[in-house]
Amino acid sequence: MFNGRVLIITGAGVSAESGIPTFRGKDGYWRNLDPTKLATPKAFARDPNLVWDWYCERRQRIRKAQPNPAHRAIANLGLQADEFLLVTQNVDDLHLRAGLPAEKIVQIHGDIFMTRCSRCEFRRYEHEQEHDDGSLPKCQECGEYMRPGVVWFGEQLDAAKIEIVENFMRGGDCDLVIVAGTSALFGYVIDWALRARGQAGQLIEVNPEETSLSQFATKSFLEPAGIALPRLVNGLLSNVSP
Ligand code: OAD
Repeated sequence: MFNGRVLIITGAGVSAESGIPTFRGKDGYWRNLDPTKLATPKAFARDPNLVWDWYCERRQRIRKAQPNPAHRAIANLGLQADEFLLVTQNVDDLHLRAGLPAEKIVQIHGDIFMTRCSRCEFRRYEHEQEHDDGSLPKCQECGEYMRPGVVWFGEQLDAAKIEIVENFMRGGDCDLVIVAGTSALFGYVIDWALRARGQAGQLIEVNPEETSLSQFATKSFLEPAGIALPRLVNGLLSNVSP
């Protein structure tokens, strides 16, 4: 058991060792296109087929991928900590498939397997099936194009998801905050990490590279998540200080 309150924030780096390219890493480019320019409302308005092709390929890749030791370590800690929340920017399902219960996960940037209408509230979950006839999916309720159920650049986060995170924060300061595999470019990632640790909690960063969060970390592991997290979690669960 881990007697404490834990917040973990993850990003694309945690799924990198499962073969899912990060956004800003060197293998992130797809057909010579920058993913940070594809994941935008503007790109979808200009060329919805292209954007869907990219998401369909990513869905396929994620379906074939397996959780790695970092996902499993996080799930293990999540099951053993007194109080625990994972906030992930990842739209894949690898944290869930590693065994972390859905109620302990907030996918703040959405879920890649959700397909939703760009106009009305209609949405459906794509378990296995892809629309594979080359045509764009259209809403069965209103006829508008369907889009991936993810948050694109410049879009608002889902208020209900923010509320889950804020509610967890209101429950008290965390003994431990771990931020792993994210370039931490979004202000809310840094804000949540700093607020959650309060005055006395530990803030551990796991990332082979330094980020804008590194200066605030009480400890940094400049290593791949699949190496550092299992060691860290094993130490925590056997009461060895990190
Ligand atoms: P990025 O691609 O910006 O950053 C990935 C981070 O993971 C980098 O800091 C890498 O150094 C680090 N990294 C790479 N391999 C790693 C490994 N094996 N172990 C640990 N860390 C590793 O991805 P995010 O920070 O997740 O949002 O990007 C944040 C958001 O920007 C994404 O959710 C997405 C993107 O645009 C939206 O689409 C809204």
